[in-house]
Amino acid sequence: MPQSDRAVPLLRLSDVGKSYALGRSVLTRLLNREQFHAVSGLSFDVAAGESFAIVGESGSGKSTVARMMVRLVDPTTGELAFKGQSIAQLAGRDLAAFRQQVQMVFQSTMNSLNPRKTVATTLTEAIGRDGVPVADLLDMVRLPRTVLGRLPHQLSGGQRQRVGIARALARRPTLLVADEPTSALDVSIQAEIIRLLRELHRTAGVTLVVISHDLALVGELCERVAVMQHGRLVEIGSASQVLHAPRERYTAELLAAIPRGLSGQHASA
Ligand SMILES: Nc1ncnc2c1ncn2[C@@H]1O[C@H](COP(=O)(O)OP(=O)(O)OP(=O)(O)O)[C@@H](O)[C@H]1O
Ligand SMILES: [Mg+2]
Repeated sequence: MPQSDRAVPLLRLSDVGKSYALGRSVLTRLLNREQFHAVSGLSFDVAAGESFAIVGESGSGKSTVARMMVRLVDPTTGELAFKGQSIAQLAGRDLAAFRQQVQMVFQSTMNSLNPRKTVATTLTEAIGRDGVPVADLLDMVRLPRTVLGRLPHQLSGGQRQRVGIARALARRPTLLVADEPTSALDVSIQAEIIRLLRELHRTAGVTLVVISHDLALVGELCERVAVMQHGRLVEIGSASQVLHAPRERYTAELLAAIPRGLSGQHASA
């Protein structure tokens, strides 16, 4: 049974690991001889209402964690709990409620939106019976009505990303997991998407988990930051501590790797 909201974090990862079987033949896979550990021993909490970032170099396991959070991928070890309930064990009505409350915004909207469906169809399907009305969704992400009849390839990258966010908001989620939400966009559009996410967090109270390698973005959007390397947690703390006074050498190196000119680029948003 879920405990009271105050006692339980919105999301808790306890010793979470994910390994993939390697090897070309079906036999090696079946025998599980070679395992690649994409994520190992990951434990942290995300509190209701916070904005949380996961940063780390390419291949450090960030997207794998994001997919486990929304139950697109199951962990091989450990447990993820949403409001105190193990998400691996959710079924039936509880699973449907989880799917409604936890939404993901994908990095590549070109792949995540159905190329044959108009914006109107995509949003109407996402809304279901009791979601946010289409007109309100468009207002929330500042898209004009004129996009409704268009297919994904008839939209700009920024518009597509907004449709992806609108789709994620259609059922009024509690938790939004955004995997590199701006990496495919140019700088001015990035700033708009960041502003939009920040507004959702501050005004609508949506809990945000943002995966990014852009530390400038993270500094502007997130209150707490987890740093990953080779599938493990290197450091976790407030954004100001991690970004300005990192305890770990790896974090300092990651910070040093961003061109100075970039920080503040989004600040004008
Ligand atoms: N389905 C899979 N099968 C085998 N290996 C995988 C699979 N998915 C991911 N991996 C491996 O797991 C590791 C972590 O991948 P992941 O996509 O989580 O990294 P990431 O931190 O999101 O990287 P990026 O910043 O490039 O998006 C990588 O080495 C990747 O090759
Ligand atoms: Mg990734």
